[in-house]
Amino acid sequence: MDISSFDLFPLDEKTEILPFCSKDDELNNFLFDDAKNYLAELMAVTYLLVDRQTQKTVAYFTLLNDKVSYDPEERSLWNRINRRISNNKRRKTYPSVKIGRLAVSMDYEHQGIGRAILNFVKHAFTNGNRTGCRFITVDAYAAATGFYIKNSFDFFTQKDRKDATRLMFFDLKPFKDAQKKN
Ligand SMILES: CC(C)(COP(=O)(O)OP(=O)(O)OC[C@H]1O[C@@H](n2cnc3c(N)ncnc32)[C@H](O)[C@@H]1OP(=O)(O)O)[C@@H](O)C(=O)NCCC(=O)NCCS
Repeated sequence: MDISSFDLFPLDEKTEILPFCSKDDELNNFLFDDAKNYLAELMAVTYLLVDRQTQKTVAYFTLLNDKVSYDPEERSLWNRINRRISNNKRRKTYPSVKIGRLAVSMDYEHQGIGRAILNFVKHAFTNGNRTGCRFITVDAYAAATGFYIKNSFDFFTQKDRKDATRLMFFDLKPFKDAQKKN
């Protein structure tokens, strides 16, 4: 899906939020009731994808800084992460960006917009970064883990496998290396 026919921009305190309805009420309410509060507190930035023709919000996502941290109970998973990092750069935490919220309007679902948004975030955090950022993380709704797996995210731990949300990550380095080759 080419989302360039839509407008993509960060929400600011004066933005008039155009109608939006995903299948998740909590995510709908966050956009209208709380996204500006998070922005004012410097806790998260929300990005809107807007269809100018229909005057509707197509999708939104929220980003905040995060870290991926060593968990002594998940040593083998941590080794799997560490193996990706060159020896002398291995740490107990790695800088990350979290997708705090992501929702696509029901009118626009299943058209590749969610994937295009993830691709946008992958590009945004591998080009011209202001800070180091190695991973994208997300607390994925159990019903949405399949969507993230299709977009090359991985589970961080098995401990949360029965929870309502699961911590998932995407390693930006191989993505960046692949970009260089193309
Ligand atoms: C999950 C969501 C963001 C997906 O957006 P979308 O624009 O419909 O997804 P896309 O069309 O880009 O789908 C990309 C691929 O993921 C698959 N996919 C989409 N949603 C899926 C889901 N819930 N489970 C498994 N696979 C899913 C699609 O079938 C597609 O696969 P394909 O490449 O084999 O065709 C959207 O359905 C949504 O907003 N849901 C409600 C809120 C939510 O769950 N947000 C995630 C919070 S963590």
